[in-house]
Amino acid sequence: MNRELDLDELEEKMHELLEEPEKKKRIKDAEYKKVRQLVFDQRTVRILVKLFNKGVIEDFTWIVSTGKEAVVLAGKGPEGEIAIKIYKIATANFKKYLDYISFDHRFVPTGDRARIVRIWAQREFRNLARMHQAGVRVPKPIEVQGNILVMEFIGEEGEPAPLLRDVYDMEDPELFLSEILSDVRKIYLEAELVHGDLSEYNVMYWKSKPWIIDVSQAVPLNHPLALSMLRRDVENVTSFFKKRFRVKVPDPYEFVDELVSSSQT
Ligand SMILES: Nc1ncnc2c1ncn2[C@@H]1O[C@H](COP(=O)(O)OP(=O)(O)OP(=O)(O)O)[C@@H](O)[C@H]1O
Ligand SMILES: [Mg+2]
Repeated sequence: MNRELDLDELEEKMHELLEEPEKKKRIKDAEYKKVRQLVFDQRTVRILVKLFNKGVIEDFTWIVSTGKEAVVLAGKGPEGEIAIKIYKIATANFKKYLDYISFDHRFVPTGDRARIVRIWAQREFRNLARMHQAGVRVPKPIEVQGNILVMEFIGEEGEPAPLLRDVYDMEDPELFLSEILSDVRKIYLEAELVHGDLSEYNVMYWKSKPWIIDVSQAVPLNHPLALSMLRRDVENVTSFFKKRFRVKVPDPYEFVDELVSSSQT
């Protein structure tokens, strides 16, 4: 990039995105307010400017999701479409973050709010990187700066792929479930992590394949709750497939026992 973008220009860009009638239609009033609040968080805006000037982000195109803890924007980067996940500092769930962080030997807890959110974003980046390296279908992590994580976009033209939760029709649900479970195996055996929040809300359906997202809370295998989290993950996805698609599913306990014993041989 030849010319540096400044703060005012970025704010203007965000406002344009928010004001554009056709785009605004897609987000509810309450969500619109949430993104606006975020725009006015100067620290976050400064990091966005930095990412622009580094060339990591070239454009914003869409507001994908406005949740309790994070806002996800769609954008463009040098290699194609990107998802920009912005963790909110004001409404962060510090209790949850610290519960996880203090058990995780890779990170140390601290008292500073912004710093805890930064650690949380880094955690998602590192967990994504480990899973990606293990060959799991997760968005490829691109960059993390402060409370902002940039990753590969799952979807097309700013439109995110549907969540498994919203898929009612699927060619071969049994195969799809087995692909999710094979990713759970890879996460356990190769990345040596447990997702910890796996469900139909954190699996995207893209080009007939499962894509696993939202991995900030994933824990290493020596975490005291790793095994019970693994059981819950497997139970969540198998019971979803049983109910929604009425297919035969593996017994979660047997699956987990088999997985754990195969890691010990
Ligand atoms: N890489 C991505 N590509 C496209 N869409 C994404 C991507 N990552 C997340 N999304 C979309 O954003 C939504 C929220 O992302 P994610 O599940 O990671 O956040 P979250 O922690 O659940 O946020 P919150 O709990 O605050 O809603 C997802 O349900 C999905 O629709
Ligand atoms: Mg989620």
